[in-house]
Amino acid sequence: LRCLKCADAPCQKGCPTQLDVKAFITSISNKNYYGSARQILSDNPLGLTCGMICPTSDLCVGGCNLQASEEGPINIGGLQQFACEVFKKMNIRQIVSKEVREERNESHSSPIALIGCGPASISCASFLARLGYTDDSGVKAVFIGIGMPEPKKIDVFQGLTQSHGFFTSKDFLPMVAAASKPGMCGCSKKSLPHLKGRVIVLGAGDTAFDCATSALRCGASRVTVVFRKGFTGIRAVPEEMEAAREERCEFMPYCSPKAVNVKNGRIVSMQFVKTDQHLDGTWYEDEEQQLTLKADYIISAFGSTLLDPDVVSAMAPVGMNKLGTPKVDKTTQATDVPGVFAGGDVAGVAETTVESVNDGKVAAWSIHKYIQSLHGNDVGNTPKLPMFYTPIDEIDISVEMCGVKFENPFGLASAPPTTSGPMCRRAFEQGWGFVVTKTFGLDKDLVTNVSPRIVKGSTSGPIYGPNQGSFLNIELISEKSAAYWLQCIRELKRDFPTKVVIASIMCTFNQEDWVLLATQAEDAGADILELNLSCPHGMGEKGMGMACGQDPEIVKTICSWVRKAVKIPFFPKMTPNITDIRTIARAAKEGGANGVTATNTVSGLMHMKADGTAWPAVGMEKRTTYGGMSGSAIRPIALKAVSAIANDLKGFPIMATGGIESAETGLAFLSAGASVLQVCSAVQNQDYTVIDDYCTGLRALLYLKGAKTLKDWDGQSPPIERQQKGKPVTGLPHFGKFREERTQIEKNTFRDSLIQSNDDSFASRPDTVVEAVPTVQVMLKMTHLSEGYGSGREVANSIGTGATCLGTHTPIPP
Ligand SMILES: Cc1cc2nc3c(=O)[nH]c(=O)nc-3n(C[C@H](O)[C@H](O)[C@H](O)COP(=O)(O)OP(=O)(O)OC[C@H]3O[C@@H](n4cnc5c(N)ncnc54)[C@H](O)[C@@H]3O)c2cc1C
Ligand SMILES: Cc1cc2nc3c(=O)[nH]c(=O)nc-3n(C[C@H](O)[C@H](O)[C@H](O)COP(=O)(O)O)c2cc1C
Ligand code: SF4
Repeated sequence: LRCLKCADAPCQKGCPTQLDVKAFITSISNKNYYGSARQILSDNPLGLTCGMICPTSDLCVGGCNLQASEEGPINIGGLQQFACEVFKKMNIRQIVSKEVREERNESHSSPIALIGCGPASISCASFLARLGYTDDSGVKAVFIGIGMPEPKKIDVFQGLTQSHGFFTSKDFLPMVAAASKPGMCGCSKKSLPHLKGRVIVLGAGDTAFDCATSALRCGASRVTVVFRKGFTGIRAVPEEMEAAREERCEFMPYCSPKAVNVKNGRIVSMQFVKTDQHLDGTWYEDEEQQLTLKADYIISAFGSTLLDPDVVSAMAPVGMNKLGTPKVDKTTQATDVPGVFAGGDVAGVAETTVESVNDGKVAAWSIHKYIQSLHGNDVGNTPKLPMFYTPIDEIDISVEMCGVKFENPFGLASAPPTTSGPMCRRAFEQGWGFVVTKTFGLDKDLVTNVSPRIVKGSTSGPIYGPNQGSFLNIELISEKSAAYWLQCIRELKRDFPTKVVIASIMCTFNQEDWVLLATQAEDAGADILELNLSCPHGMGEKGMGMACGQDPEIVKTICSWVRKAVKIPFFPKMTPNITDIRTIARAAKEGGANGVTATNTVSGLMHMKADGTAWPAVGMEKRTTYGGMSGSAIRPIALKAVSAIANDLKGFPIMATGGIESAETGLAFLSAGASVLQVCSAVQNQDYTVIDDYCTGLRALLYLKGAKTLKDWDGQSPPIERQQKGKPVTGLPHFGKFREERTQIEKNTFRDSLIQSNDDSFASRPDTVVEAVPTVQVMLKMTHLSEGYGSGREVANSIGTGATCLGTHTPIPP
C-alpha cells in the first residue's frame, strides 16, 4: 500500500473522530482485517457507514500528504469500508472488556435515556456500553440526538405533496435507500419511486446531488440541479458534483424559485428569477430576468430544521439558541441543564454523520463523568474511552519459554530499534513482550559506527512502506559501553517487571571475556542472554560474530564457558551464512545452550552502481564491505533455518528472527517450530506501534481456527464463492426451464450475501459455542512438547498434507 504512515498524520487530524488512519491501513496491508476494523470501530462505532458516505475530500482525504502525487491521495473511505465489511462477515459481536466488567459497580446501572436513533445516539450508546453502563432507559442523564426532523421548505411549495410530484430530499432519499439497499430493509421488498419525465432538484449541497443521481436511476429522463449562487458557491464536495455531471445531470446556477405551476393536480413547470451579486458581494434577485423550466417532479434539498412546537417545548428547560436548537458546550456536549446533553444535527454544529458520531462520543465521556460524580467518583479530565472489544481480544497469546513468561510472543531483535535504554522503554510502553538489547561488548572492544550504514535492499521496488523487501546494513554492535547497558537492564527490569529483557552480548574467543560479560548481564537482572555469534560484517578480524559462529567447535566451547558462568537461560544467535545450520545448533546444544536464535542477517554486497562503485561509500576512499541483509526477503531462509533446527533438535527452543512483519508471518514461524518472535526491519520500516496489529492479528487468526462458522476462511480472508463472469456457478444450463431457476439462484445468492438473515451464523453469540480456540502456548505444546521438549512437529511432513498442529483447545466462555 502507498500510505506513507506520516508522522503527525494530517489524515487523522482531518477526521472528526480522530481515526488512526495509518494504523488501520497498516493492519489492512498485513491482512489483519479484524485489527483494522478494531482500530476503526474503536474511534468510530459507525465506521462502516462513514467509510461509505463520509465526504472524505473535505476530511481525511483532503489532508492526505499524497494529495499532489500522480496517483492521488489514499482512498481512505474505501479502505475503511473494506476492512469493516470483512469484519462484518466474521459476525463477531462486541462485548464489554474484561477490565470494565471487573470494575463495574452499581453506578453503572444508572439509567440513561438516549432520545433518537441516529448516528449521534448510536455512537453515544456504544461508548456508554463500552464504559460499562447497562441501562439505557431512565432519567439519571439524558442525551438528545433527534437530528433535524423536518425538511426546510419555502412558501413556494405550500400545499404541494408527493401526489403533485413534489418531494423533499428527506422523503425522497429514504424511499430510494429502502428499495435499493437490501441490507436496510430485508423484511419486505420495496420498489423505487417511479419518476417519469423531467426532474428539477433544488439546492447545491451533497444531498441535492444525491437526489439528482438517484432521480436518474428512478427513471427520470432529464434532471436539472438548480441553485441560487454560482459554481464557486457550491457546498457539495467535488466528488458528489462530479458524479452528477458524469451521469449527465444538468446544472443551472443563479436561479431563485418563484412559483410552481400545477395542472390537473400535477406539477408542469417551475418559475425562477435570476440572482446576481452587487459589487460589495451581496446577493439580490433581478425580477426583470424571469425564466420557466418544464418539470414533472420537483425535489427540494434545502436542508433540515426543528419546527415541531411539541418537541421544542418538551426540551424545556434546556436553553435554546437563536436557531431554535439546544445551546451546548462544544467541548462536552452539555446543555445548560445538569445531566442533559445533546449532539448531532440538533446540537447545531454537526453537518455530517461522522461529526454526529463524534458528538455522541464526546457526550458519552461527559455523561460518564457526570454520573460518576453523582456517586462521588472523579474520573479525571482526560477522556479514556475503552476500545472496541470482542471475544477475540480475550484470547491468551502469552508464552512460556525456558521458565520465562512472555506476555506475547513478539519482541524486538537486537538492532537499531533497541539502540538505547529509552528506546527499549518505548517498545515496552507500546506493548512488545520482550526486547533484545543492541549487542554490547567489553570496553576494549568498543566500536564507532560509520554513516551511512543502512540502505534499502536492492531486492526492493521503489516503494517504502510495509511491503519493503529488504534492508542491507553494515552496522556494528552498540557504541555504548557495557556499564551503560547494565544500568539500562536494571532500570528496565525495575520499571517493567512483567516484561522480558534479553541481553545480547559479544566477545572475542576468550573465556575470561565471555564469563565476565555474561555474569555482569545476569547480575544486572537480564532474564535471558543472547550470544551474538553471527554478525556477518565487521569484527571478523577480531574473531567475533560470524567468524565464531560458523565453526561448531568454537560455538560449543563458548556455550560451555557461558553455561558454567550463569544460571539464566542463554541462546546463541545463529548465522544463516553456512551450509548446514543444524551442525551449529547441535554444537550449541551440546555446549549447554537452552535454545538458539535463528537467524541473523544474510551476508551480501550492499549495493553496486552501474559504474562499479559501491553504495554506501564510506569516507574519502568510498569504501564498503559485505553487509547483512534483513527483512521479508530473507524470510524463506530464516523459516527454513527454524524448521530445520526444530526438526533436528526436537523441542529445543528457538527464538525466530528474519522477515517477521505481521501476525501471519509470525504464526508461520511458530508453526515451523519457533517459540518467540523477534522483529527488526518491520519496526525500522514503520514504528513501534505495529505491535498492536501483530497481537490483534495473532488473536484473530487463532480465533478463526476455533469458530465453526469461520472454518472455510483463509487466514482473515473470507471464502470466495466459485463464480463465472461475476455470477455464482449454479451447474444449471442457460436454456428452457433452467433459465428461470438459475436466475432465481443468482438473485438469492446476491441478496443473501447482503442480508444477515440467520443469527445462528454469528461466530460469537451467547448461545453459539466457540470451541477449539488454541492459545499460543497450546500451539507451542503441540509443536514442541508432545513428549516434553523431545518430539517436535515434523513441519516437513505436514507440508502438502494440509496437516495442522492445533489440537488441544481452550473454550472461550460466551
Ligand atoms: C438526505 C440526507 C443525506 C445525507 N447524506 C449524508 C452523507 O452522504 N454523508 C454524511 O456524512 N452525512 C449526510 N447527511 C447528514 C447526516 O445524515 C446527519 O448529519 C446525521 O444523520 C445526523 O445524525 P443525528 O444522530 O444527529 O440525527 P439523525 O440521523 O437525523 O437521527 C435522528 C433520530 O432521532 C429520531 N427522532 C426525531 N425526532 C424525534 C423525537 N421527537 N423523539 C424521538 N426521536 C426522534 C429520528 O427518527 C432519528 O432516529 C445527510 C442528511 C440528509 C438529510
Ligand atoms: C541495522 C541492523 C543492525 C543490526 N545489529 C545487530 C546486532 O547488533 N546484533 C544482532 O544480534 N543482530 C543485529 N541485527 C540483526 C537483527 O537482530 C535481526 O536478526 C535481523 O535484522 C533479521 O530480522 P528482520 O528481518 O526482522 O530485520 C541487526 C540488523 C540490522 C538491520
Ligand atoms: S499518506 Fe495519507 S493516508 Fe497515509 S498517513 Fe500520510 S496523510 Fe494519512
